[in-house]
Amino acid sequence: MDSVSEYYSATQLRADRWSALRAASSSICRETTARKINALKSTIAELFQALSVIEPYWAFPGMAAFVHMRRQFENGHYEDVAFAITRVTRALTTGAYRRRSIPLERDSTDDEENNDEAMLSPEARAMARPYFEVLIVDNVNDQQERWIKSNMARMRRFEDPFHYEAVVVPSLEDALIAVLFNHNIQAIVVRPGLALKSKNENEILHKYLSHLGSAENIDAMEPENYGPELCRLIAQVRPELDAYLVTERSVEDIAGLDLGICRRVFYNQEDFMELHLNILRGVEARNKSPFFTALVNYSKQPTGVFHAMPISRGKSISRSHWIQDMGAFYGPNIFLAETSATSGGLDSLLEPSGPIKQAQELASRAFGSKQTFFATNGTSTCNKIVVQALVRPGDIVLVDRDCHKSHHYGMVLAGAEVVYLDSYPLNEYSMYGAVPLREIKHQLLALKAAGKLDRVRMLLLTNCTFDGLVYNVDRVMDECLAIKPDLVFLWDEAWFAFARFSPTYRQRTAMRTANNLRKRLRTDAHQLAYDAQQKQIKDASDEELLDTRLIAPPNARVRVYATQSTHKTLTSLRQGSMIHVNDQDFKGEVEQSFHEAYMTHTSTSPNYQIIASLDVGRRQVELEGFEFVQRQVEAAMSMRRAISSHPLLQKYFKVLSAGDMIPEHHRQSGVTSYFDTEQGWTDMWDCWEKDDFVLDATRVTLAVGGTGWDGDTFKNDVLMDKYGIQINKTSRNTVLFMTNIGTTRSSVAYLIEVLVEIANELDDLLDDASKMERLSFDRRVANLTENYPPLPDFSRFHDAFRPDNLTPEGDIRQAYYLSYDEKNCDYMELDGQLKQALDNDEELVSASFIIPYPPGFPILVPGQVISREILAFMLALDVNEIHGYRADLGLRVFTTEALSALTKAKTIQTAAE
Ligand SMILES: Cc1ncc(COP(=O)(O)O)c(C=O)c1O
Repeated sequence: MDSVSEYYSATQLRADRWSALRAASSSICRETTARKINALKSTIAELFQALSVIEPYWAFPGMAAFVHMRRQFENGHYEDVAFAITRVTRALTTGAYRRRSIPLERDSTDDEENNDEAMLSPEARAMARPYFEVLIVDNVNDQQERWIKSNMARMRRFEDPFHYEAVVVPSLEDALIAVLFNHNIQAIVVRPGLALKSKNENEILHKYLSHLGSAENIDAMEPENYGPELCRLIAQVRPELDAYLVTERSVEDIAGLDLGICRRVFYNQEDFMELHLNILRGVEARNKSPFFTALVNYSKQPTGVFHAMPISRGKSISRSHWIQDMGAFYGPNIFLAETSATSGGLDSLLEPSGPIKQAQELASRAFGSKQTFFATNGTSTCNKIVVQALVRPGDIVLVDRDCHKSHHYGMVLAGAEVVYLDSYPLNEYSMYGAVPLREIKHQLLALKAAGKLDRVRMLLLTNCTFDGLVYNVDRVMDECLAIKPDLVFLWDEAWFAFARFSPTYRQRTAMRTANNLRKRLRTDAHQLAYDAQQKQIKDASDEELLDTRLIAPPNARVRVYATQSTHKTLTSLRQGSMIHVNDQDFKGEVEQSFHEAYMTHTSTSPNYQIIASLDVGRRQVELEGFEFVQRQVEAAMSMRRAISSHPLLQKYFKVLSAGDMIPEHHRQSGVTSYFDTEQGWTDMWDCWEKDDFVLDATRVTLAVGGTGWDGDTFKNDVLMDKYGIQINKTSRNTVLFMTNIGTTRSSVAYLIEVLVEIANELDDLLDDASKMERLSFDRRVANLTENYPPLPDFSRFHDAFRPDNLTPEGDIRQAYYLSYDEKNCDYMELDGQLKQALDNDEELVSASFIIPYPPGFPILVPGQVISREILAFMLALDVNEIHGYRADLGLRVFTTEALSALTKAKTIQTAAE
């Protein structure tokens, strides 16, 4: 039997154990030899034992049925037990138990058994009443448990919008395990009789409990506090759930407590109807999707269209002689819902006051922001909106140089003075890492020393990066606020919307961290720690400050923005994105400018389908985000495991681990790989709590240099053309496989099959290769894996674009517009004139953004001095697409005359001032 450490998610472990039990129990019925029967008996007994610690946390099949099956097995009724196990396993796979009761007795008839559940039409599924489970936490005996369950079952009414089943666990620890294990749980009823400790002593349970570090002092707690503490603890791991606290404590006593996710307190243990109605209402509040509903209702209304939108209601298509196929392909609803109406139950994205406003409020709750805004033009637009709303011309902004191009254009539009921050390079794989905190602090301290801290406005970082590097958001914000207490943070979470729905990932999201920081800054403990540190660092040098883990002053302002491409990681149509705000000064200072910036960039004809999909996407994650993200991580982990432990694949490929992508001094946990072929999974929680950077395991970078193909060729000629596998990003010798919440185990299995086939073909090819062919292959491999062009840092802005030489900020907008006049620019061939000029120590300055794709961020920005390293890198680049570069003309640079004229004008202006 597989060990627990082989699994990342409990759901998969459970599913696999049931499948193994099904296989073994079917075999035992057919087996005739005593030796084999005995072996199967012990396998089945082990599997029953293993499942017995998992099953108490799930409503189906339920412990009573499970114990019954186990007893049948012990009594030798193999046919009965095999029958029941087959039914359970099938119902778990198809989800049939969510729609009807599953009889497990052999003589029972199950009419729907032959209806393949998986073949149910989407309409039939949509009509089914959604199912969930309610966790009851109370230390009761079997009889009392039956009594509670039957009382809850009696409350069901025909008109209920949902169907639920109850799971009863005895203790706080069991409840925590249950909510981390069982994704079906949507509500928790905490009754006064709950105990503290779980009686289940088991490796898997420990693994899950260890995630809750904050429960350290729990042993000393009075029993009356177990309930409130449980509600608080669940708020940390599954904040989307609802809890109902049944208590005997006085109202006054309860009123002053932090009750975490508790929605309501009940004083009467037996008021089951009230409880039932509240549970349904709680889930309904998440299940609402106001804009989607409004759009569906709108599409059913008869309307006449007398404005410029022929596609509305599909009329231009249904009456067409030539484009009927479009109507047939999309179906009628998409056109019925196509509208620009802001009345008739709909709303305006630009001035929302109805269902769009409500949808945004629900999204704000789901993602833990104070305000959330939808965007129908991607995160590219969101980034520009936030930058324009907060940055005034002349403000200094610290920007991760490798960030998405929308930020660089945002800087131009806002007229910011930009300080580019360098990420650590991963030369071996031709990709950049992330910006070390030391580099950020260094720049802030330098700006402080130059007396410019008051002009520093914003720090802009990408979390996580395209390649999956994730910052220690809490540490970055705490330490930066210690130097500049009102710094605004913009975290580009284009790739990280899903992170909110995994307890491990959530701790590194901007919104969760902002909320925690707000709370922490107000605590006495923080004040004490801050005061103590202030004494310690009174006369500290900058070098000492760089080495100190700085603490923000208690009066620091928490000002955090996150932009997310919902469409990249969650359910949303393309371009559906969100801006999340958690800024203490938003209402007082930013609201108006934010509104203007939003108006600047938002279309007056936003696509309602996108908005509706954002609304539904939010609804989905509030109800099943935990489950989907857990499955996604499991799929990615199994992919990492399969590739790293397959002997043939190891010959040509390597999955990059945290150890490969994060330098050792940034991995305080010391963990190099989240999966070890010997030891199984590392508990990622530890790394995610401590390390400067962690790797988002759902993004799997595969080094392909060993195949002799570069990343681009591997992507286009091998994966895409031969196997129809699409991927997004490559580097010189890597390709990136991104999993998402729709990734299934079978898609992972297909990918592994393909990789194995590629490896086999390579083996065959090399087997038959001539000496020359072998030599050529080895050379290509060596070239890709040993000779790599070092990645250049940001050089500097030319002096003409810098206010002084004290600090590196540059006026990117001035450089950008200087190039609008053709006579200020010249073109130089990379390997000719340009190289020559650099060899002659001439200073050359880029007039354009030069953005090779991949990696997709500028290697040069307007006003940047071209260094020898940059030229070497560009010459070594073997990508087809370099935005801003004209292969026929060369690189666009500023003329010496233009730069001199500018410098002269600046000198005159400075003298005049
Ligand atoms: C880090 C980052 N930010 C922003 C964007 C732009 O997002 P969108 O495609 O939603 O406009 C991207 C796109 O790839 C990105 O990688």
